[in-house]
Amino acid sequence: MNNENKPTKVVVVGCGYVGLTAAACLADLGHVVVGVENNADRLASLRQGKAPFFEPDLDALVASGQTGNRLSFTEDLTAAVVDADVVLVSVPTPSLGDGAADLTIVESVVSALSKSLPSGAVVVLKSTVPIGTSTQVVGWLGRSDVEVVANPEFLQAGQAVKAFQHPDRVVVGASNKEAGHKVAALYAGLNAPVIITDQRSAELIKYASNTYLALRLSFVNTVATLCEQGGGDATTVLAGMGLDHRIGSAFLQPGPGWGGSCFPKDTRALAAVIRNAEADDTMLEAALAANQKRLRQMVKVATRAVGGSLHGKKIAVLGLTFKAGTDDLRDSPSLAIAKGLVAAGAKVTSYDPMVSVSPEGARHAGSALEAAKEAEVVMVLTEWPEFTELDLSSLAEAMAGNQIIDTRGLLNKESCQAAGLVLWQVGKG
Ligand code: UDX
Ligand code: UDX
Repeated sequence: MNNENKPTKVVVVGCGYVGLTAAACLADLGHVVVGVENNADRLASLRQGKAPFFEPDLDALVASGQTGNRLSFTEDLTAAVVDADVVLVSVPTPSLGDGAADLTIVESVVSALSKSLPSGAVVVLKSTVPIGTSTQVVGWLGRSDVEVVANPEFLQAGQAVKAFQHPDRVVVGASNKEAGHKVAALYAGLNAPVIITDQRSAELIKYASNTYLALRLSFVNTVATLCEQGGGDATTVLAGMGLDHRIGSAFLQPGPGWGGSCFPKDTRALAAVIRNAEADDTMLEAALAANQKRLRQMVKVATRAVGGSLHGKKIAVLGLTFKAGTDDLRDSPSLAIAKGLVAAGAKVTSYDPMVSVSPEGARHAGSALEAAKEAEVVMVLTEWPEFTELDLSSLAEAMAGNQIIDTRGLLNKESCQAAGLVLWQVGKG
């Protein structure tokens, strides 16, 4: 609610994973929200109460927001913002060739807003943007009566609604105190610490958090590779590390490499910012390079499993999304690994419970068993729950070979052995 005790009118520009989750959850908190979306197919789906992508619990909030008249969608940006209290910008900020974030879409949205915004409105940057972008936005807006606030998101795909409703923190970066409090008030219904700081610090909290987690995962996968090649059990090693309260046990799961729409892009973007500031980007570049090596390592594991060359060998790839619980394929390790297998001449068949496309050069299968038919090797690349419940006897029967590569730590060695399968386990020698 704003000062006059009427609901705050929030306009969210860009209804993707980030924007739509914010729009639906803010409407659920009692604000009046208008989502602006310029993709006609997405808009049609939203108006029918359906998210244009899979995200648990989101459809229900999108539908209930519209039935409760707190949430609506339009393509008309200028009409939507004329009476807005707060405008959230959540449009894409893709990578440029050198890794820096491309702000063209943000700039065009902000320029389009500037003439229609009422005096006293606050423009909030939800998109992940380089440090200093809030100041640039002030220039693009050219309005001394409109404030710009940085309010980064920390949503994890597959649990975005939960992450919005139960955040570890809310970060608000503002040069104007009143504007900062107005944005913080949007989240008043949530039980979370609120950090109110300057814009640059808020922007950096987002980049630094994502990049730190990416660095951590590159280290985790280095420990895993060490155990896989030299012996030892990385799961136990990492659990042992995680019990140290200074380290903590979250984000210590080794895998085939890390991906998604944020970690690779944000790490590259922060590295570019650091280079421009003439600071040392060695650690970030090393984390990125280590991740690429890890992806190539997974292709090597498959090569060893077939006893030499992958050429002409049939490999089943189970799981294409960058993690379970999402249909998001952006920068997915599975796609990079499948590409490596295809480049080495393997005949790849893929299956994913959420997506019906297959990587370039690969064949699509409608089930794990169908993908495994006559395969020499089955590679589990995404931690979908259904892969923990694979019928191993039927899998062994369907396959031509007997090798299973489990990059997510889902399968049990003894059960595989009982079915006549040889299991390679992530992080184990
Ligand atoms: C994106 C960026 O990837 C991320 O860096 C940023 O922090 C927030 O926006 P995400 O929500 O995952 O994150 O992206 P995406 O699912 O592509 O959603 C962006 C939405 O904006 C799309 O629905 C797109 O159609 C829409 N859009 C894009 C507009 O409405 N207007 C535009 O001018 C451009
Ligand atoms: C991430 C951040 O966590 C979130 O705060 C930010 O707003 C957006 O980027 P997301 O990309 O949705 O979220 O997924 P996340 O759960 O962080 O996983 C990223 C990658 O790391 C995935 O490929 C995942 O499989 C991998 N990962 C994660 C591991 O390999 N091991 C882990 O222990 C955790």
